Amino acid sequence: MSWDSDTRARAEEIIVRYPQRRSAVMPLLYLAMAADGKLTDEGMREVAEHTGMTPAQVYSVASFYSMYKRELGEHLVSVCRSVSCHLLGGDDVLAAVVDETGIRPGQTGAITVEAVECVGACGGAPAVQVDYELVEGVSPAQARALCRWLLDERPGFVIGDDLQARFGGQRSFDWGPAEPVGALGPVPAFEPYGTTGGGA
Ligand code: FES
Repeated sequence: MSWDSDTRARAEEIIVRYPQRRSAVMPLLYLAMAADGKLTDEGMREVAEHTGMTPAQVYSVASFYSMYKRELGEHLVSVCRSVSCHLLGGDDVLAAVVDETGIRPGQTGAITVEAVECVGACGGAPAVQVDYELVEGVSPAQARALCRWLLDERPGFVIGDDLQARFGGQRSFDWGPAEPVGALGPVPAFEPYGTTGGGA
């Protein structure tokens, strides 16, 4: 067993929300990522132990979904490659990210870079996410500046509105409400894990 007592307690808190222990496998995989900074064999064994599934069953779930990552840098830069972004220069944005970071899609260095399908911001194409925080209307030059900032400044958290103001262009919905919380890291953020943080 590699999880500490807090992580095990969190796992049990999550499991009791479901009718069967095995139904909690997906949130527990996020918990495993948060515990280790990435999804490890040991983390998957912990998930199997807690859910009553076999390690092979846990691995089959983890390997099916791209958001469960075996390697993960300090930040995750996701560049959309679906049709709207493709038509508006998404390939050039991805090329700029690769050139600036030296990291190819699907690879991890100080940060992780990936090319992803539509992130739901087609009206603000080309779209990029950092730790799942959205930046819209990104030019190749802005993508370079964004990556340089991540690599040089190594921010402890990112906030979508801040990223948009600094590195974005035209948004889908400029009239949307301000979002004062952001992401503390590249593990997808949702309750009850507390991976989102205040903006200050
Ligand atoms: S096609 Fe890129 S956000 Fe939808």
